[in-house]
Amino acid sequence: MKTILLILLLAVAPAWAADSLAPKLDIGKGGQCVDDPKFMRTNHMKLIVHQRDETMRKGIRGGKYSLANCVECHASKVNHSVLGSNQNFCQGCHAYAAVKIDCFECHSSKPREFRKASVLAAKDMK
Ligand code: HEC
Ligand code: HEC
Ligand code: HEC
Repeated sequence: MKTILLILLLAVAPAWAADSLAPKLDIGKGGQCVDDPKFMRTNHMKLIVHQRDETMRKGIRGGKYSLANCVECHASKVNHSVLGSNQNFCQGCHAYAAVKIDCFECHSSKPREFRKASVLAAKDMK
């Protein structure tokens, strides 16, 4: 129910409605999103979700919609992650929307400079 409500709000509501109901998110580093934030709010899942197959077959990596790129900007300056609390960018909105994301079981939730070695991170590196 909450999810349906949020989706409706994201789709049709004016900015003030989304702002007053949305969780307080730690946007991260700042700068300019890869696309219009309003567009991103409703379409990010289409942009990043299984690009994977295409990416691996054609060898395209690290484009503007790469997951690693999102993390570079949206990781909190406090804990250097997009996860960890309900202020953290991906986790915060997803907890609110009650939508699970399993991406970070394999992908790092931290920007490059705060990772250990590889592009894909183990669970204990979150
Ligand atoms: C079981 C492990 C696993 C899970 C879970 C997983 N991925 Fe991946 N993903 C990979 C591997 C392996 C690659 C290819 C290596 C690479 O390109 O870094 C990849 C590559 C990608 C790429 C292209 C590289 C990049 O950084 O842009 C994107 C985008 C991506 N995955 C998005 C996602 C999203 C979104 C989710 C969650 C819905 C997800 N993946 C879940 C293993 C996983
Ligand atoms: C160069 C930094 C940067 C990159 C890279 C970036 N973003 Fe953003 N993004 C931002 C900023 C800053 C905002 C807030 C803009 C605003 O509110 O005016 C934002 C806003 C958003 C929003 C809307 C948040 C809200 O509260 O409504 C979503 C969703 C989003 N980004 C997802 C992504 C995803 C997914 C990726 C990777 C494909 C990504 N962003 C890459 C900087 C970035
Ligand atoms: C402003 C709120 C918001 C933010 C911030 C946000 N998401 Fe989402 N995300 C959603 C909502 C709502 C959905 C479900 C939309 C739907 O079902 O159509 C979703 C769906 C997804 C999905 C598809 C899940 C599925 O099972 O279909 C993925 C993957 C995803 N988001 C990844 C991310 C990642 C990675 C970040 C951080 C870079 C992020 N999201 C940040 C609100 C957000």
